[in-house]
Amino acid sequence: MTGPVDRYVVIGNPIAHSKSPEIHARFAAQTGQDMVYERILAPLDGFERTVRELIGRGVKGANVTVPFKLEAYALAASHTERAQAAGAVNTLTFADGQIAGDNTDGIGLVNDIVRNAGVDIGGKKLLLLGAGGATRGVLLPLLQQRPAQLVIANRTLSKADELVQQFAGKGNVRSCSFEALQEPFDIVINATSASLSADVPPIAPAVFGESAFAYDMMYGAGPTVFMRFAAQHGAVVRDGLGMLVEQAAEAFYVWRGVRPETAPVYAELRAAL
Ligand code: ATR
Repeated sequence: MTGPVDRYVVIGNPIAHSKSPEIHARFAAQTGQDMVYERILAPLDGFERTVRELIGRGVKGANVTVPFKLEAYALAASHTERAQAAGAVNTLTFADGQIAGDNTDGIGLVNDIVRNAGVDIGGKKLLLLGAGGATRGVLLPLLQQRPAQLVIANRTLSKADELVQQFAGKGNVRSCSFEALQEPFDIVINATSASLSADVPPIAPAVFGESAFAYDMMYGAGPTVFMRFAAQHGAVVRDGLGMLVEQAAEAFYVWRGVRPETAPVYAELRAAL
């Protein structure tokens, strides 16, 4: 006998654009998991109410996207180490009357860089552009790869300084202004939201070392302005579509205990962009 099908959701505002339902439906089909996954639009002032209603209806878990990741953190009764470091939650699990919070964004980024792009982070000089929520969300998993050095550069230097203070015990991490950045790096990751307004952070081309790898956490049908800039200066470039698929795969694993294959799902999404 089978019980009712397990239900999962992604909650955001806006949410219509979310690709998570397509991704999880493909993972479920591929691994034979009996589940459904839907989009939920929560009112801007109604995240908690929405979550409680969903729990009341027997939903097992939720992905959380803009602008609710901090509220999801506050709502969760327990947090994984990576969620705690991120100060934000993108994966909620509802079980035994408890709300558990996790964050799979950072491991999604790491898996896309290391496994899919084939670029090791260990021992490398790493430059992270930006010091907002996107940066904080990925710092612990990046530092756990043991880069030789991780520099956080941001327009507002004090925000980079705060992150350095928070993560100082986790690896060799320091802050820098965009202007003072003159030395070459092996890996440059754009975690600013500058691509949204077609801006490139004001960095010197010298940051792209010999055969540097440049990653933009944003993605689109074509290369972002940051990717074009990096490619012009000799970097191998990659956008954030793989991170999206990998963070979903990790959430799927958190909920179902099964690891889906990400490559075919990535290829399908890429073809549809
Ligand atoms: P997110 O959750 O996407 O990280 P956020 O917390 O608002 O959003 O952070 C946005 C980041 O992009 C910040 O590091 C911001 O720099 P400031 O801290 O100085 O505001 C950075 N950013 C946004 N637009 C930018 C631009 N045009 N050039 C450089 N950095 C930019």
